[in-house]
Amino acid sequence: MKDINIEKSSIDEVGFIDVAIDPTLDLFAEIERLKKEKNAIILAHYYQEPDIQDVADFIGDSLGLAQQAEKTDASIIVFAGVHFMAETAKILNPGKKVLLPDLKAGCSLSDSAPPALFKMFRDKYPDHLVITYVNCSAGMKALSDIICTSSNAQKIIESLPKEQQIIFAPDKNLGAYLNKVTGRNMVLWNGSCMVHEIFSLEKITKLKVRHPKALVIAHPECEEVVLAVADYIGSTTGLLKFSQQSDANEFIVATETGILHQMQKSNPFKTFIPAPPNNSCACNDCPHMKLNTLEKLYLCMQYEQPEILMDETLRIAAAKPIERMLQISKKYGL
Ligand code: 13P
Ligand code: SF4
Repeated sequence: MKDINIEKSSIDEVGFIDVAIDPTLDLFAEIERLKKEKNAIILAHYYQEPDIQDVADFIGDSLGLAQQAEKTDASIIVFAGVHFMAETAKILNPGKKVLLPDLKAGCSLSDSAPPALFKMFRDKYPDHLVITYVNCSAGMKALSDIICTSSNAQKIIESLPKEQQIIFAPDKNLGAYLNKVTGRNMVLWNGSCMVHEIFSLEKITKLKVRHPKALVIAHPECEEVVLAVADYIGSTTGLLKFSQQSDANEFIVATETGILHQMQKSNPFKTFIPAPPNNSCACNDCPHMKLNTLEKLYLCMQYEQPEILMDETLRIAAAKPIERMLQISKKYGL
């Protein structure tokens, strides 16, 4: 490690290692060197910027990343994603160092479910099982029976007896979609993702007029009106696979724009159009995901900071519903 004293309090304040980098450094080569030197693995979500995706050892959706975090034998996990994802990796790997390039990379959906409020809500339904979407804090996970992601939520719900009553949190759009496809009547927490709620049905409709052969593909965190016009609905991995397997050549993509990098890379001759937001700025970029940069990734590997640290009692409580999710996913080959 370089001989420089990084105060923990300064990282807590800005969220990342704030040190100038020599602009002549080849960060791609430096990151590869650090991976080998430190036996580190980089796990990146599809919503990360293209440069980060290109240096990652594994790129995936929330389920794929949790599965990789569970099985890696690397000593250091560098999580290029948001806080709840890195926290999930730490919950599954208490003995490993888990790093997040910017500690302030949060999630509006996770923030929409404060554990203290959710506990009061949950206590009103003592006979209900709590299924919680992985986009939540460790405190929320500790209040849950089973965690799910957008890849396995339907299967997890269908694995439970029909008469089992369920609370689903925190995403109301995903919850409403799951109620529709499973025929359940789950009680929904009123949370949502700021990125997936921004798409404009009117602008998607106009795009469809200009590109009549384009298929609309959407993440289930989108609002019901957008899902109603989608030709395919799935997790980020599901959307990517669909774009690879479909005979169509044009797609209107209703999710965060980061996924377009892998879509374009694996389908160089197909056209991917980001679904437009209901305003004029690029708000379908997740501002939390995009806090991570290649520079911050390099510095966090160099200085092994910021690190995810957790209270052990909370970690053990949060691990149970995640392990239940991973077991059910394994059973169904997900
Ligand atoms: P998936 O990774 O499960 O597709 O979820 C998307 C998302 O919003 C992650 O923050
Ligand atoms: Fe959270 Fe939405 Fe960003 Fe995903 S895209 S991290 S759900 S705010």
